[in-house]
Amino acid sequence: MAQPRQLKSPLQTFTVQCQQRLEKLFALYLDKISVPALRKAIQHSVFSPSKNIRPLLVYATGHAISAPVDCLDLPACAIELIHTYSLIHDDLPAMDNANLRRGKPACHKVFGEAMAILAGDALQPLAFDVIAQHPAPPSLTEKNRLQMIHVLSQAGGPYGMVAGQALDITAMQKTIAPDELHTIYRLKTGALLSASVTLATFCVNKINLEIKNNLACFADNLGLAFQIQDDILDMENTGVAIGKPQGLDAANQKITYAAIHGLDTAKKHVDDLFHTALAAITPLGERAELLRELAMMVLKRRQ
Ligand code: IPE
Ligand code: IPE
Ligand code: MG
Ligand code: MG
Ligand code: MG
Repeated sequence: MAQPRQLKSPLQTFTVQCQQRLEKLFALYLDKISVPALRKAIQHSVFSPSKNIRPLLVYATGHAISAPVDCLDLPACAIELIHTYSLIHDDLPAMDNANLRRGKPACHKVFGEAMAILAGDALQPLAFDVIAQHPAPPSLTEKNRLQMIHVLSQAGGPYGMVAGQALDITAMQKTIAPDELHTIYRLKTGALLSASVTLATFCVNKINLEIKNNLACFADNLGLAFQIQDDILDMENTGVAIGKPQGLDAANQKITYAAIHGLDTAKKHVDDLFHTALAAITPLGERAELLRELAMMVLKRRQ
């Protein structure tokens, strides 16, 4: 007998729609890469199954502030390209030395270290190029594009994600204060999550400062919760495959929140951060429902 079809939740429907948009954009830009080995290495990583949290945050924030989706495509695509580059490099033997990513062999395991480094290198300018020139409605001004490039550079570069990664690899085997650990998490992970929300705000002509601050507070707390949850998943054996190696943080002697404080305290902290994040967007009312569902998915995720 045919199984009754399960109804999709609003977030699931939204996710499918956003992922279809992203896939088209990725194909448009990646198909043009004329060097086959480089193209294949990039496609391997970009088309592997990502949760797409960052672009979904761009689109869901845009939904909350009534931004045109054709404008949101640019930062949504760009931020996933930057994030994917960060994962390719994060998995390299010189960094976390991880063999598995998104349920597939890490880029360097298939294409070699040199090509994986180049794939990551190539994704960075490609991301900025998408913002600089991808067609968008005229409401997205050149100034808006420049603001996006600035925010993404700050979040992804030496004042953001890369700074966090540098601290992450040097914080090994040394005691660390909770504040320092939060700083690392805010930089290596929080910066791109926060940027996702900020980038969406450039897709509307005017935004109330209070709403902007509420969204920033939401993203900051979500970013911290996201990385602590990531540490928990690395540490906790739930029997569910997470698509990347488990126990690698301990093997690499990484200092993580869960390792220092234990799983129970870490889970409680994630819960507290989640509630703080939700409280921040209460004033946005009904239109922030997708953001709430997205945050819930982050909290409950097992991958
Ligand atoms: C993994 O990010 C790296 C962290 C910042 C923890 P995601 O958990 O968003 O990975 P994908 O993109 O879904 O594979
Ligand atoms: C990585 O943190 C954050 C990045 C900037 C890529 P992790 O090293 O914990 O991420 P995973 O566990 O490899 O995805
Ligand atoms: Mg790492
Ligand atoms: Mg890693
Ligand atoms: Mg991790």
